[in-house]
Amino acid sequence: MCLFVNFTTDLSNRHPLSKVKKDIRILGIESSCDETAAAVIINGRVVSNIVAGQEVHRKYGGVVPELASRAHQQHIVPVVDVALKEAGLTPRDLDAVAVTAGPGLLGSLLVGLSFAKSLALALDIPLIGVHHMQAHILAHFIGPEGKHPPFPFLALTISGGHTQIVRVNDYFDMQILGETRDDAVGEAFDKIASILGLPYPGGPAIDKLAREGNPKAFRFPVAKVEGLDFSFSGLKTSVLYFLQKKLKENPDFIKENLADLAASVQDTIIRTILQKLEAAMERTGIRRIAIGGGVSANKGLRAALEEFARRHEAEIYIPEFQYTTDNAAMIAMAGYLRYLQGGKDSLSLTPKARWSIEDGGKT
Ligand code: KG4
Ligand code: ZN
Repeated sequence: MCLFVNFTTDLSNRHPLSKVKKDIRILGIESSCDETAAAVIINGRVVSNIVAGQEVHRKYGGVVPELASRAHQQHIVPVVDVALKEAGLTPRDLDAVAVTAGPGLLGSLLVGLSFAKSLALALDIPLIGVHHMQAHILAHFIGPEGKHPPFPFLALTISGGHTQIVRVNDYFDMQILGETRDDAVGEAFDKIASILGLPYPGGPAIDKLAREGNPKAFRFPVAKVEGLDFSFSGLKTSVLYFLQKKLKENPDFIKENLADLAASVQDTIIRTILQKLEAAMERTGIRRIAIGGGVSANKGLRAALEEFARRHEAEIYIPEFQYTTDNAAMIAMAGYLRYLQGGKDSLSLTPKARWSIEDGGKT
């Protein structure tokens, strides 16, 4: 099934980053995982933002790469079509096509990239390959200027495949300060949710349940990892062992304590993140933190970050909800910023399953 979500916003005035007189219209395409998305931005303002999710993975408890690429093939044409229509444009009006070139699932990336290449070739406009995690960070430059984090700032990227603390010196100058040594935060949410019998993706389900539960009901350990690196696989194992023991005593233990379990797991994850953020601020002296990636949709984390900011006199930048999970507006925004710098890629660009955030946006 194809779920269309339309986040179209009004095009009001020119984006503060727009210095050129001519209108610049960028189509963004995202297909790195299980969301097919297309968006149009004009002069840095989002005029359409369409996301088609993929229900097909739910029953498998995780994304099945082969099914994801097939679904992308079915969705890509209608999704781009709707994005252009919502923007009131035809393909001929476009100035460039920006597309996620990695990191992500190779077969999924190929669908978006091949489509974008064909479009760029047919229309004779630049193709701009975008680094997915850079785009999660650059999503902070969508919207009114007052909300853009000034450089340098720290970015916490937390998604299903990534967990990093990055020093952002400029739009495409990013340096990894710390990262996970095993599971990503979103992966930890999803795996623990699966242990609790919750459907995939488990992050939103834990977030929702946690609101009804006591975060101090159960105590799980915060992994001790040197420096600014993270580790989440130990948490998953400790939840698993804890539950195996409890279920022997009471087979209904999970059912009877679901909200408290969700709240306690979420609390442990949040404490881990805040500990590392505090250490990163101390080490760099930078007190501006921008979060990005699917897990930044987590309501508990958002509230904890606001409180953290007050306590540490830090500035926390949290993207608008629609730009947290995978979307193409952030891809179009990253493409727009590259376009303004004269950046473009060759039509022989290939997708990269693995790609360091330090190497994105360089061509
Ligand atoms: O950035 P994203 O949409 O896709 C990737 O690039 O991975 O992130 C997806 C991840 C999934 O692990 C999902 O469970 C998690 O983000 N996620 C959440 C929430 N919404 C999405 N995790 C915790 N709380 C949420 N509200
Ligand atoms: Zn993502």
